[in-house]
Amino acid sequence: MQFQLALVTGASSGIGEALARLLASKSIPLILHGRNEEKLHALAAEFADRVSVTTIATPLERRESLLKTIREQAPDLVINNAGYTLYGNAGNHPTQDEMKILEVNGAAPLEITLEAAKALLRKKKSGIILNVSSILGDFPSPGTSIYGASKAFVKSFSINLDYELAPHGIRVLVSSPGQVVTALAARAAKKERVTRKGPLLSPEFAAQQIWWQIEKQKAVHIFDWRYRWGTWITTHLLPKWFVKKVIRKWIQSREI
Ligand SMILES: NC(=O)c1ccc[n+]([C@@H]2O[C@H](COP(=O)([O-])OP(=O)(O)OC[C@H]3O[C@@H](n4cnc5c(N)ncnc54)[C@H](OP(=O)(O)O)[C@@H]3O)[C@@H](O)[C@H]2O)c1
Repeated sequence: MQFQLALVTGASSGIGEALARLLASKSIPLILHGRNEEKLHALAAEFADRVSVTTIATPLERRESLLKTIREQAPDLVINNAGYTLYGNAGNHPTQDEMKILEVNGAAPLEITLEAAKALLRKKKSGIILNVSSILGDFPSPGTSIYGASKAFVKSFSINLDYELAPHGIRVLVSSPGQVVTALAARAAKKERVTRKGPLLSPEFAAQQIWWQIEKQKAVHIFDWRYRWGTWITTHLLPKWFVKKVIRKWIQSREI
């Protein structure tokens, strides 16, 4: 599929930044979103000799400018990648901070997905919307509870909207990365850096996996194989009490 215009949210860091580089290397014109305006401008300058780049710097809690661009320009590749979490028991954070996770990780990608699909339908264009979930959307995630719930929401609506929109030439795919080395964990722990246990993936690998999924139009993709196996074992074989205990300890090791 040859894309005419791609939007990547959260392109100013981590997986989104790697995705922006990968799409630019394929000469796909870009709309890059994030909050860090300086970083977005630096990326646009880096790609200037290859592709046209529009930048939109806005928090997803105030996304009207982004939605307006989507309605007007109907990008035929939309990657809802922006997201974040907080580590620790949800009850220990201000309620409004936990509600914001649901807003940024859940409500925003849903609204962007619906508006992007409607814009494509109006212009009688086909397209792909890929939403970035997480393996933590597949099983209990105490210690990052609202994040896990928001990612389960993203996975659920993506699978259902894909069924509804596929006959119109619009696919809604969902990607579930395992642990990727980005700023996410340190931001969640409010620390300079955190040490994470288990297999670690690079943002470049994550971007390649997402591109592979787009090319194959695979509805759901967990990466890599170790996380595919881990997710299967966790959801089908292990008792829920044990999974909760292990995940809580796993997250706790990053809080200390
Ligand atoms: N890293 C992992 O292990 C992992 C695993 C599974 C899934 N994921 C998912 O992968 C996606 C990308 O995360 P990452 O690991 O690349 O993290 P990251 O390096 O922290 O990047 C997150 C991106 O989202 C943007 N963002 C965060 N909060 C925002 C808000 N309120 N409004 C607008 N933009 C906001 C950030 O913008 P600024 O930098 O400009 O503030 C940044 O561009 C997320 O959806 C995450 O849940 C990550």
